[in-house]
Amino acid sequence: MLTTVNITDDIYYIGVNDRETYLFENLWPLDRGVSYNAYLIDDEQTAVFDTVKNTKTHVFIDKIAGILKDRPLDYLVINHMEPDHSGAIKALQDKYPDLKLVGNTKTFELLEDFYGPLKNYHVIKDGDQLSLGTHTLSFYLTPMVHWPETMMSYESTTGTLFSMDAFGGFGTLDGGIFDDEVNLEFYMDETRRYYSNIVGKYGAMVQKALKKLKDANIPMNIIAPTHGPVWRTDPHCIIDHYDRWSRAETEEGVVIVYGSMYGNTQKMADVIARRLSENGIKNIRIYDASKTHVSYLISDLWRFKGVILGSCAYNTGLFPTMETLVNKLENSQLKDRLLGIFGTASWSGGGVSNLNKFAEKIKWQRVGESVEAKSSPKEKDFQQCIAIADEMAERLIKERA
Ligand SMILES: Cc1cc2nc3c(=O)[nH]c(=O)nc-3n(C[C@H](O)[C@H](O)[C@H](O)COP(=O)(O)O)c2cc1C
Ligand SMILES: [Fe+2]
Ligand SMILES: [Fe+2]
Repeated sequence: MLTTVNITDDIYYIGVNDRETYLFENLWPLDRGVSYNAYLIDDEQTAVFDTVKNTKTHVFIDKIAGILKDRPLDYLVINHMEPDHSGAIKALQDKYPDLKLVGNTKTFELLEDFYGPLKNYHVIKDGDQLSLGTHTLSFYLTPMVHWPETMMSYESTTGTLFSMDAFGGFGTLDGGIFDDEVNLEFYMDETRRYYSNIVGKYGAMVQKALKKLKDANIPMNIIAPTHGPVWRTDPHCIIDHYDRWSRAETEEGVVIVYGSMYGNTQKMADVIARRLSENGIKNIRIYDASKTHVSYLISDLWRFKGVILGSCAYNTGLFPTMETLVNKLENSQLKDRLLGIFGTASWSGGGVSNLNKFAEKIKWQRVGESVEAKSSPKEKDFQQCIAIADEMAERLIKERA
């Protein structure tokens, strides 16, 4: 018996867990895996919402067949074409030859580019409806959350939003499927890591999508995303988080990230952190950019207002792991942070000077003067580090309501 879970009497969870893949999109570490969620509505007409990664095709189709037995599958709603959700479309239509594929014009362009022409296209426009019998679906186009074809589907008798990747996160569903069945702290962190690294760049489009849902004035009882838990107890909690993340709203706290080979730059990070603490800042996180994957750094940078970056010089440039971080930040469109800079160099430098160039490009508010120690930090360098910490703490404390 394969695991299928009733979301309501006739809406089923038919997703699968992936514990094998090391890196999502071959980039993001999956320490605790990922789920590819899919759903089935069993009505006069039957419908599935999204498929799974191609490696999971067989178990996915077996789950559908286990529910439908000899009955046909009438519709596949394709909310998103990224291959972690579109990988089983062709196989599903091979199994159910009359299957109608529901998507918008952009969906079918991508579908044909990826998988060649399939058949039975049912093209919908923003706001269109589709009745399955007792259940009625409405479609909301939400372009560029985070692909051009992304859309959401809403079922009105139960108030269920099939939201594709929006509101979803990393982490397999290990038994618990719903928000009230799992440890939410873990999934919230993993949902923010997913958001900040994959969707965050498109915050303006997320805001548009949230407005569209709000203006539609639809009761939101259940949010069923394509990764992570199903939000049924407090769906507005995850909507609020998305709203805050997409407006780059922050909590009080400072993330210090450094690149250091022999520990000299690291010493400066510890002095800065201690002084922040003496000034009453409680959320302080120090990360070694060579040890912690950039996706976790971005996730914390999305959360906290204060950012202090340090780098030793390395072959006339930034230390490579810090270079990865600043490149990702430049691309991420993350706005409105407070930035302090420190580092070390033994001859002509390259670390601090490049962090300063980054600061000009990203246009965050600068905090204190950047400090560059010669080889190892001396008392005067530590005093400059302390000055950065003092100004950072002062600016953060001033923002307290
Ligand atoms: C492979 C390598 C390349 C370096 N490149 C530079 C450089 O281009 N310019 C510079 O001023 N110092 C350079 N340095 C010196 C270090 O930046 C300097 O010793 C620094 O204090 C090391 O800090 P850490 O102890 O935090 O690793 C280099 C050191 C190494 C090992
Ligand atoms: Fe996606
Ligand atoms: Fe996805």
